[in-house]
Amino acid sequence: MATELAEPRALVVRITAEADLILVRQTLRSEAIAAGLGLVDQTKVVTAGSELARNILTYATGGRGDVRIEQVHAGERRGVRATFHDDGPGIEDIELAMRDGFSTRGSLGLGLPGSKRLVDEMTVTSARGTGTTVVIVKWKR
Ligand SMILES: Nc1ncnc2c1ncn2[C@@H]1O[C@H](COP(=O)(O)OP(=O)(O)OP(=O)(O)O)[C@@H](O)[C@H]1O
Ligand SMILES: [Mg+2]
Repeated sequence: MATELAEPRALVVRITAEADLILVRQTLRSEAIAAGLGLVDQTKVVTAGSELARNILTYATGGRGDVRIEQVHAGERRGVRATFHDDGPGIEDIELAMRDGFSTRGSLGLGLPGSKRLVDEMTVTSARGTGTTVVIVKWKR
């Protein structure tokens, strides 16, 4: 949303290996706590972020990408935003990829739709050959 303002501090975690998922989860958790989110909402955004980071490992070229994690506010509201990016092959049909059970790797196909249900906002920007950017936002209740 254009009205969301980011705090000056943003943390970037590079995603290149399974072990990086731990740092992604820890960073999301600590920024969610700093934004005042409760335990359940912290866990929801961490779980969503973990799925999106895993998709980078699985689908991006060389399993490489990054995530930028920051606190955001819109008026009185505070929250946490995470922007996942990779320069991989992209998603040909985003609507299809967002459906429960759609997977090009014979997996459960729940990562993207499940993530969307766990957060307040999620936008996927991708096209074949242009990489993929997924932005999630979770607000403090
Ligand atoms: N970063 C990405 N780059 C390219 N394609 C992607 C990316 N993320 C997801 N996709 C595509 O979207 C599909 C759906 O992703 P989703 O995470 O929902 O399911 P999955 O990864 O196949 O299975 P699961 O996450 O349940 O193990 C993937 O199978 C893949 O084709
Ligand atoms: Mg997945």
